[in-house]
Amino acid sequence: MKILITGGAGFIGSNLAEKLSSQAEIFIVDDLSMGKKENLKNVNNVIFYEESVLNKDFMKRLLNSENFDYIFHLAAVASVADSVKRPQETHEVNFMSTLIILEILRKMSNRNLKKFVFSSSAAVYGDDKTLPKKENSVIQPLSPYAIDKFASEKYVLTYNNLYDIPTTAVRFFNVYGPNQNPSSPYSGVISIILDKFKKNLNGELTKFNLFGDGKQTRDFIYIDDVINALWIVAISDSTFGKTFNVGTGNETSINDILIIISKFLKIKLNIEKMEERDGDIRNSVADISELEKLGFVCNYTIETGLKNYLMKLKLV
Ligand code: NAD
Ligand code: UD1
Repeated sequence: MKILITGGAGFIGSNLAEKLSSQAEIFIVDDLSMGKKENLKNVNNVIFYEESVLNKDFMKRLLNSENFDYIFHLAAVASVADSVKRPQETHEVNFMSTLIILEILRKMSNRNLKKFVFSSSAAVYGDDKTLPKKENSVIQPLSPYAIDKFASEKYVLTYNNLYDIPTTAVRFFNVYGPNQNPSSPYSGVISIILDKFKKNLNGELTKFNLFGDGKQTRDFIYIDDVINALWIVAISDSTFGKTFNVGTGNETSINDILIIISKFLKIKLNIEKMEERDGDIRNSVADISELEKLGFVCNYTIETGLKNYLMKLKLV
């Protein structure tokens, strides 16, 4: 079995590659703009291309020569805030790359493809007050990132209906865990918080910039649960042309994240209060009943997920 993971040197992609490498030959295309090759150090059976998914000729050659069984399209600029700063550049990868891959697939005469899985986002729901978010809840994208994710999702599902390309889309809520890169101010908030804690434990005085009052909530899901969900959605016969929320069904505020980690590490972070970010969502939590119907079980709470992550970082 051959599996392509675009963005596979990044956070979610590298964890997925590690999990699937025992059962498949893994191919990764990543331009290393955010991902790192060292994220793949535990992955055997991997062929890595440092390349952009926007390179049409390269992607066409690769897809035609390898004829993949599964494609997980994860390459993107994953930051909402970055898309607000650079809407045109982020649009290229966050929207155009999907259309490029779909078009190559449409024009292939013999496809082995069993499923193309697109990574969409909870950001598509925006700030409509109804919670938890169901797959058919109001869509209200507030940022270029969310608009690109929703447009890509629609293309992906429509290619299933129009051209019989086996596709599905997942809307990840807020994923956290090992290999999430904390190096940018646009990185995922838990990776940034843990990086600050780590620096404090090493005697470096750092502050965490908290945007808004910290009462904003997210449905934080541990990476291992996400990887299980991705594989369930990929192999299920009832996911063609459909979208699935991937979350836990529970919401946690940023303030509570800080409290939980402080309890584990027995230190407090210095907080610098900042203005709320443009395009930021107030509350977000998933209804995961559709995913559960496929057999998904969420194994981690926020406490057990954070504890596992801290253990992997050797902080507890
Ligand atoms: P990440 O930044 O760690 O991974 C994305 C990878 O894509 C990076 O390794 C980056 O180098 C690569 N990439 C970017 N542009 C590229 C290009 N032009 N060509 C090839 N590779 C390119 O992010 P992640 O958290 O692993 O997110 C993976 C996917 O899941 C993204 O599509 C993201 O939008 C989506 N998502 C993530 C979350 C989350 O909480 N982490 C939530 C919702 C959706
Ligand atoms: C995250 C993901 C996005 C995904 C979405 C789904 C990243 C970088 N972003 O966006 O890909 O589509 O979930 O719900 O993985 N914050 C701070 N200080 C910081 C950083 C963030 O206070 O230093 C705040 C933000 O303003 C926000 C919250 O923490 O209110 C979460 O931010 P972030 O981790 O960037 O997540 P989302 O914007 O929800």
